[in-house]
Parts: sequence; C-alpha cells; structure tokens
Amino acid sequence: MEMSAAAAGGMPKVDDDLAAAKRKPWLASSGRAEGREKERWRRVLVVGCLVALPLLLCFVLGRESTSAVLEIASAKLTTMKGSIAGFTTNASHGGAAKHADELLGGLLAPGMDRRSCRSRYQAAQYYKHFPYEPSPPLLTKLRAYETRHRKCAPGTALYNASVEQLRSGRSADGMECNYIVWLPFDGLGNRMLSMVSGFLYALLTDRVLLVDIPQDSSDLFCEPFPGTTWLLPPDFPVGNLFGLGPRPEQSYMSLLARKKIVVTNDDDDPAAKNATALPAYVYLSLGWRMVDKLFFCGDDQRALERVNWLLLHSDLYFVPSLYSVAEFQGELRQLFPAKESACHLLIRYLLHPTNAVWGMVTRYYKSYLAQADRRIGIQIRMFSFASIPVDDMYNQILACSRQERIMPETDDGDEAATGDLNSTAILIASLYGEYYERIRATYYAHAARGGARVTVFQPTHEEQQATQKLFHNQKAMAEIYLLGFSEELVTSGMSTFGYVGSSLAGVRPTILMPAHGHKVPATPCRRAVSMEPCNLTPPRVGEECRGKAVDKDDLARHVKVCEDDGRGVKFFD
Ligand SMILES: *[C@@H]1O[C@H](CO)[C@@H](O)[C@H](O)[C@H]1NC(C)=O
Ligand SMILES: *[C@@H]1O[C@H](CO)[C@@H](O)[C@H](O)[C@H]1NC(C)=O
Ligand SMILES: *[C@@H]1O[C@H](CO)[C@@H](O)[C@H](O)[C@H]1NC(C)=O
Ligand SMILES: *[C@@H]1O[C@H](CO)[C@@H](O)[C@H](O)[C@H]1NC(C)=O
Repeated sequence: MEMSAAAAGGMPKVDDDLAAAKRKPWLASSGRAEGREKERWRRVLVVGCLVALPLLLCFVLGRESTSAVLEIASAKLTTMKGSIAGFTTNASHGGAAKHADELLGGLLAPGMDRRSCRSRYQAAQYYKHFPYEPSPPLLTKLRAYETRHRKCAPGTALYNASVEQLRSGRSADGMECNYIVWLPFDGLGNRMLSMVSGFLYALLTDRVLLVDIPQDSSDLFCEPFPGTTWLLPPDFPVGNLFGLGPRPEQSYMSLLARKKIVVTNDDDDPAAKNATALPAYVYLSLGWRMVDKLFFCGDDQRALERVNWLLLHSDLYFVPSLYSVAEFQGELRQLFPAKESACHLLIRYLLHPTNAVWGMVTRYYKSYLAQADRRIGIQIRMFSFASIPVDDMYNQILACSRQERIMPETDDGDEAATGDLNSTAILIASLYGEYYERIRATYYAHAARGGARVTVFQPTHEEQQATQKLFHNQKAMAEIYLLGFSEELVTSGMSTFGYVGSSLAGVRPTILMPAHGHKVPATPCRRAVSMEPCNLTPPRVGEECRGKAVDKDDLARHVKVCEDDGRGVKFFD
C-alpha cells in the first residue's frame, strides 16, 4: 500500500485537447517533465499545489510491483467471431449482405431508426475485432436501463417532478428517478471516456444519464437510447453549467466541509440525524485535480445514493477506480467477466457518430483503406511535457515497429515479389504532417520486403487542437473511428485519443512510451496487456475512506499500474 516516491510525486494534468496527462514541472525532483507551457501552467499551479499535499497518502488501489504488469505480452488477439475480414465483398447494404450481427451480440437494442443514425447499424461491418460477447447480466442491465431512461427522460412527468424537487433546493427520499448529468471537460478523447464512465456509474446506481452537450460537439453523437433523449433541456434550473470549474460551492468536498452532507455508518449519529435536508444536487469534481476523491469510498456512495441529482465534471476514465468500492466490485465482476472488455463494450454501446461524421468515416474508408488486406493505425501525439525532436520520434516509431514487427520492413535487395503479397494500408492519425511524410517517403524510395504493397494515408493534420470548434471535433471523431477499424494499432502513451481508438477497435495496442523529461525512452514501446484505457489520475485516498471491506486480493489482481503511466491504473484480467 505504500506509494513509491515517484508515484507520490504529483498527479497528471490532463491536456485540454485530444489527450492525456502532463507532469508538473515544479516537481523536477521526480526527474520528470521539464515541459513548460507557461500560460497553462500558471493557471494550474495554484490549484495544483493545494491538492498536491493530501495526495501523499496511502493509495487505496493496491500498487503492485510494476514488473509483473509490464511484461510485454505477446498478446495478440485472435480475429473474433462476428468480424469480417474482406470488407469490400460485404460492403453493399442490400438485405442479404446485411451483417448478421449488426447488433453486436445483443449489445445494441433493435428497433432504432436506421437513417437518423447510420453508424449504429453499419459500424459492425467495419470493425475487425469483436473479442468479447456482452455477458447476460450486462444485457439485462442495459435493457433495464433503457426502460428507466424512457420513463424518466426529459418531457416526462417524472422528469418534471424531479426538476421541481431540484428547484426546492433539497433532495427527497423515494423519488422514482434520480439523475447524473454529464458536463463537458477537456478534449474529445477525454470527453468520450468520461461519458462512458458516467454511464457505467448510472448503470450501477440506477440513475439516468443526461448530457449537456456544448455547441462544439452538437453534431458528434447520436442519441444512444431507443425512443427517448439523453440531452439535458436548456431550461435546466442550475445555471452556468459549463463555467462551474473544479471547486464550486456544491462540490462534494465543499458540502462535506460545511456539513451539508454527513457520511456515517452510524444512523444514530446526531449529526447525521440532523442532516435531514440533503442538498438537491451534488457537483462531482472528478477531473485530473480529483477534488472529490472520497466519491470512491463505500460510505460516501451510501450518502450520495440519497441525492437526487449529481452533476459530473470529469475528463477521466474512472471505471477502474469504481472497482475499489465494495458495493460495485461484485456487480462489475458479473457485468464484465473479462475486465478488459469494459470500455470496449460500453463505448460500442453508447457512442455512435452522427451521419455527418459517419459520412467522413465511410467515404475515407472506402476510398483509401477498404482495398488493403490489412490496416495498421498509427496514432502519434506529442505532449509538451514529453516533447522530443521529430527525428527522435520518427526513430522511436521505427524502432517500435521493428521490435513488434508492425510495419512491413523495407529491403531494396529483394525486389522480386516472392514473399507476403498482402497489401497493407497505414493510417496515420496525428496533428502533425511530418510523420506521414516520412513514412510515405520511406515506402516510396524503398521496396517493402518480399514485394508487399504498402500505402500510407493521413486524413488530416490540424497542427493545433481546437476543441472549441465543431468541424475540428468532427474530423477528430472521424479519425478515432478510422483507427477503430484497424487490424492493428500503434498509439501514443497517455493519449486518451489512442485509448478510445483501441477500445473501439477491440485491440490491445502497441503503446509508444512517453519521452518523460524529453529523453527518448529506452524501450520504444510496449504491447499492451489489456485493451482498457488508463485512469491517468486515480483517487489517492487512505484512512479517510470508509465502507464495506473490498476484496483486496481481487482488487490488486485486476486494477494495476498502466503500461504507459506509472501513476495511472487500469483494468487487467
Ligand atoms: C460476407 O457475408 C456473407 C454472409 O454474411 C458471409 O458468408 C461471407 O463469408 C462474407 N464474406 C467475407 C469475405 O467475409
Ligand atoms: C413537463 O413540463 C413541461 C414544461 O416544463 C411541459 O411542457 C410538459 O407538458 C410537462 N410534461 C408532463 C408529462 O407533465
Ligand atoms: C443541526 O443543524 C442546525 C442548523 O444547521 C445547527 O444549528 C445545529 O447545531 C445542528 N445540530 C447538531 C446536533 O448537529
Ligand atoms: C495475408 O495475411 C493474412 C493474415 O495476416 C495471412 O493469413 C495470409 O497468409 C497473407 N497472405 C499472403 C499471400 O501472404
């Protein structure tokens, strides 16, 4: 349970674009991150310092020795049931060619309008892997959720009653519908991961998930639930939802400090008796600052159960941390017999690109990728805390490819086409154009060994993130899905964009190690042992966390340090 010095050194800051974490430059003693983004850091510095100290606490999630986790698994998934290798032969949408398992083994509910969200039914034809069937308990849970959502959705009498209760300023016992409202925070990858996490929490706690989608994302996601809406109506009584930040008055810690909520397992506690007037809503600040870390404690969950409305402000994939709550552990085990299937199944269930995005995805796929026998997605992200020169990054990619045998080798001495005649399409997803140029130039100037055909594509290179722009987000989302249609993936460590691509694809990616301290990593990459995303800022809570005892052995076995981030945790089987 002891945290290593490195682990205690600080917590990652999640980049506000498509991706992941940064190290705090003022913690130079940890030997990490000299990266300076002056302006942003200044903003973060003050708040960050305030939270750094309490983090030096025992970390409730068992930290195993990393060596056990980081063994490079030769884990390549077999091609699974329900996937189609030769897309082109089954590309038509005529009746007979309709994919038998377009509903992904019952994961998706039938009966939704095909035309208003084409991706929902068509995506199954494009995915190359579907390694895990959804478990019967998960299917039961999802169908029950859909019924509940229809009953409680905006526009219903029950929704109206809950909003009335919210206006009254206190929570009531015995409300039929309780909610969790997702708020946008950080870049697209982060948002998709926090949506999935919020949805799983709603499943586990019998709540209804509503989302407050900003303008920049207004045409990205289809309605996921049949016959209803998940959009929060504009007349929602709590104002300024996008501007509340990490520590508003109604944040959970702040309510605890003011004794508006009393957490106890002793019902005769006078303070608890007194706290009859629970607030109408609680704001959960579960982003990279992890303000409300007590959220991940059993007794706190019992208290929050009685609050009608929760507002979720998070940019993290916090699912693995829910496993440390005894009440959730058992159920999660049933829902996901394979832990590494959690995000894979949830994201395929919940998030479907709108027709505008889907049009980009399918046009691009058919024009450039469909003809190949094999598609390799390479996602390259350079974080300022781990930036290295383009040459070094390019060499790291080549070294990784050689180590894991990913891209075809070049060999000018062997022009005769005798070997593997498969054609390979390499899809580069990156904000920058340089890597595409170099990889393409390599296969132009040199033959691939054995005469294999190699084509290299990059849909966009925006040079800069622009999360506030709808078109930018649509293009980013299209690229995430194109990565999801790869046979094989190379992703950048600590990038939520890469995490989402891998989860969609159902692929354990080869992860490029971040260049901490701007040093080219000695090991260029690691083959992931689990396809799950990393929770880059797990809650670090110790004695103050109370609740039913969790199965610690099981927790230590299934929630461990990430391959690409010594301070993050993720699910393993
Ligand atoms: C195309 O679909 C048909 C019917 O579902 C299937 O029998 C066939 O194997 C598929 N073709 C390929 C190349 O997978
Ligand atoms: C819920 O309230 C809205 C106005 O806020 C109203 O238009 C609608 O009819 C109400 N629905 C029901 C079922 O009462
Ligand atoms: C109960 O709450 C009231 C109002 O918040 C406060 O004045 C009083 O001291 C509390 N009593 C106990 C026993 O906590
Ligand atoms: C093409 O690749 C597939 C899968 O990797 C392999 O089974 C097949 O033998 C390859 N075909 C040729 C002609 O090498």
